[in-house]
Amino acid sequence: MDGNGRWAKSRGMIRLLGHKAGVNTVRKIVRAANELGIDVLTLYAFSSENWKRPAHEVSGLMSLLKSYLKSELANMLENNIRLRCMGREENLPDQVRDILNTSIAKTSENTGLVLNLALSYGGRNEIVRAAARICQLCLENKLNPADITVEIFAEHLYSAGLPDPDLVIRTGGESRLSNFLLWQASYAEIYITETQWPDFSKEDLHAAIACFQQRQRRFGKTGDQVAEAGTK
Ligand code: IPE
Ligand code: MG
Repeated sequence: MDGNGRWAKSRGMIRLLGHKAGVNTVRKIVRAANELGIDVLTLYAFSSENWKRPAHEVSGLMSLLKSYLKSELANMLENNIRLRCMGREENLPDQVRDILNTSIAKTSENTGLVLNLALSYGGRNEIVRAAARICQLCLENKLNPADITVEIFAEHLYSAGLPDPDLVIRTGGESRLSNFLLWQASYAEIYITETQWPDFSKEDLHAAIACFQQRQRRFGKTGDQVAEAGTK
């Protein structure tokens, strides 16, 4: 969800107003994703690197997050949305953690869209954390190093139990992953749009999905193999 700051700057507004406008986009896109029947929507809301921003911007983002979570709980319950999060939750302010955990618990039985918020999240940190947990299991003789598979490794990531993303959308025009889902996005289709996040609309989401539907996903195979399998 990139481009809030630039969106605000181009309008002569302070950055925080860009983030505020970005929250409205989150509301719209969550609704649109739920309407489309998408299984999981992961939003990269705050990275492990975003803590390096000026303190007032960080605290502004945290208070927006808190008010978003507070205001959306009823809507999540009404629309069968299940909240999850990934990242170093322990680094978030207590008030954010409280409402986050309350919302996760209250929506845990919902069966519709999984709204997964990446908060204080970094892909490298996630992988190292998984490796450390696996090492611990090996030390405790609960796991044999020779038995470690891709599937076992994935069970120790924050995303355990979630499918890999099919599509990664980056707004704001930059062509990089910025430490997002480094493991999980291994075969994701990447869609980059110049549109800044506050301007990203339901129609833009539909356009991204339409573009995704035109892609041929080969997963290492040849195009002919994939085309042949598709006709069967
Ligand atoms: C939103 O956009 C990302 C968040 C940390 C919420 P930015 O704040 O990175 O916007 P730009 O890149 O400065 O335009
Ligand atoms: Mg940015």
